[in-house]
Amino acid sequence: MGMVEWFEFQMPGKVICAEHCVDSIGTEMDKACGNKVLVVTDEDVEKAGLVRHVIDGMESGNGEIVGVFNEVPPNSELQVVQACYEKALKLEADALISVGGGSSIDTAKAAAMLMVEGGNLIDHQSAVYMPRGPLPPHIAVPTTSGTGSESTYMAVILDKDQQLKVRFQAPELTPTVAMLDPVMTITMPPPLTASTGMDAMAHCIEAMYSEMHQPISDSLSLHAIRLIARYLPAATRNGDDIEARTYMAIAANMAGTAFANSSTTIVHAMANSVGGHFGVPHGVANAILLPYGMEFNIDFMPEEVAPRLRMVAEAFGLDVSGDDDVEASKKAVEVIKGLTVELGLPRKLSEAGVPEDGLERVSRDAMLDGSIFNNPGEPELEQVIDLFRKAY
Ligand SMILES: [Fe+2]
Repeated sequence: MGMVEWFEFQMPGKVICAEHCVDSIGTEMDKACGNKVLVVTDEDVEKAGLVRHVIDGMESGNGEIVGVFNEVPPNSELQVVQACYEKALKLEADALISVGGGSSIDTAKAAAMLMVEGGNLIDHQSAVYMPRGPLPPHIAVPTTSGTGSESTYMAVILDKDQQLKVRFQAPELTPTVAMLDPVMTITMPPPLTASTGMDAMAHCIEAMYSEMHQPISDSLSLHAIRLIARYLPAATRNGDDIEARTYMAIAANMAGTAFANSSTTIVHAMANSVGGHFGVPHGVANAILLPYGMEFNIDFMPEEVAPRLRMVAEAFGLDVSGDDDVEASKKAVEVIKGLTVELGLPRKLSEAGVPEDGLERVSRDAMLDGSIFNNPGEPELEQVIDLFRKAY
């Protein structure tokens, strides 16, 4: 397996998981010392009645909800974070609860930064953000099972002017508590269940072969892969399947912790870029690009990547005992392709509203994304353009 080199692993937040655990969110907020809470969400989540669960759950504690910021778009933006912060300031909020997908959770993380730092968010962007003081308590309640943002220490926010996704990261940004309640995910429609689940799958697989892979993340990734392979089709077919919803919430959380420590790679670099430029939903972009990224890396860096993807094939339950590493890893790619078809997701970027003449531009920005620096080897711009064309 090769010698273990130096690695670092962090999991700064608490995770709670149970059906109806949100009923006790007020108690959790008391433990976190939050009193005046701003809820950060989006209109669809609010209309689906999910914010109501949180408001009711706050009755279990002594804190109060002072307002609801429901203006988070599918890809959060710098201006949205500023507006959220200003609302928190005006209402004198001292704590946050995010209810939604990665966009709402990341908005709350970035707003929490501003509640300590003040000013403009973009001025605080740094590879190593050092807060001036403790960030306000933040409880994250994911309503999708994909990003893992409820337990990761980074926030990705769109800079609309530059059409670029900007990353903020520091252990302090991790939500104080992540509450995984399957009841909060049952209103997700099948396409969103499928695409967000494939985002989680991409986190696992990329974390397995990233240059920063490490044994603790491996264990999280491999078990999350088993859970996603088993439960994502069921959760997509029948949204009321609480067992499938619960295991998908757990898998997405484990996958988030895995990639937060081991990093994603070329797939996420490319997905972030098409998301920033053309608004392709994050999960859809990753679902399309994942098999292409795996195939590219098997050919590009076979000695590094194929033994890692062999473990992925084994996690899928495939018998690869008679195969060499490259053969075994290609079988893992076929499983991903089959899963995408089974889930009814698009398989090409041309089906996701990406214009063909935009591929060179998105390739240039993918080369600047932090994830690409952790891809095994150093892919060249021409290779990224080529890969985008293959996935088009
Ligand atoms: Fe992702």
